[in-house]
Amino acid sequence: MEPNSRIIVALDFDNRRAAEEIVDRIGEECRVYKVGLELLTAAGPDLIERLVAMGKDVFLDLKLFEIPNSVAGAVRAAGALGVSMVTVHSTGGTGIMAAAVATARDFPRLRVLALTVVTSMTGSDLADIGVEVSPQAQVLRLARLAEGAGCHGVIASPQEAARLRGVPGPDSLIVTPGVTLPGESPAGHARSGTPRAAITAGASHVVVGRTVTRAADPVAALRLVRADLDR
Ligand code: C5P
Repeated sequence: MEPNSRIIVALDFDNRRAAEEIVDRIGEECRVYKVGLELLTAAGPDLIERLVAMGKDVFLDLKLFEIPNSVAGAVRAAGALGVSMVTVHSTGGTGIMAAAVATARDFPRLRVLALTVVTSMTGSDLADIGVEVSPQAQVLRLARLAEGAGCHGVIASPQEAARLRGVPGPDSLIVTPGVTLPGESPAGHARSGTPRAAITAGASHVVVGRTVTRAADPVAALRLVRADLDR
């Protein structure tokens, strides 16, 4: 895989102009962008169509957790926009993941990624919602469920990627957010790691947001991420 496509830049913005400014500044240095609910809601699907028309791969982070029929409808809408990846919550069970995967078959480029435990959650957060196992154990359990439902990959923190080796199939994706540069303070990341650590642990892709998009020089920051990956 090209080094450029292992890095996914998260466009966490509340308006289209800010997102487009960053994409224009970064230019050819990034091929894959993540669009989440904030930007999708603020900017609408036109932005996604524009990114796809520019030749970018779009990871539409919808974090779907709905009845299977509604999940299928949302995956179909995402596929029609031309996105490459969409996320579904594995906590919602096999039914919704299987519905997402079945719908994605109509869109050959579209991959369904299962969210396990969001990287900001700790064991105590899990206990609060009645899950009495460690985040690591829960991630493994959900990753196995996702594999069984036919998902094309999972989202997992850098620290969990190593434990997931052998759970998803050899062609499966392991996408790791919660990535920060060495020495950077991991704001909002309970289980963070460096890009290098994530890839060494088995991640196929890393997601970086503020490290790049809020940097004074986003291109320089992206190059630092790439240099850490190539170290
Ligand atoms: O923190 P950063 O700006 O790099 O976040 C980029 C993306 O990674 C966010 O869009 C979010 O979906 C994901 N993330 C996550 N868990 C965290 C922090 C960020 O899944 N604790």
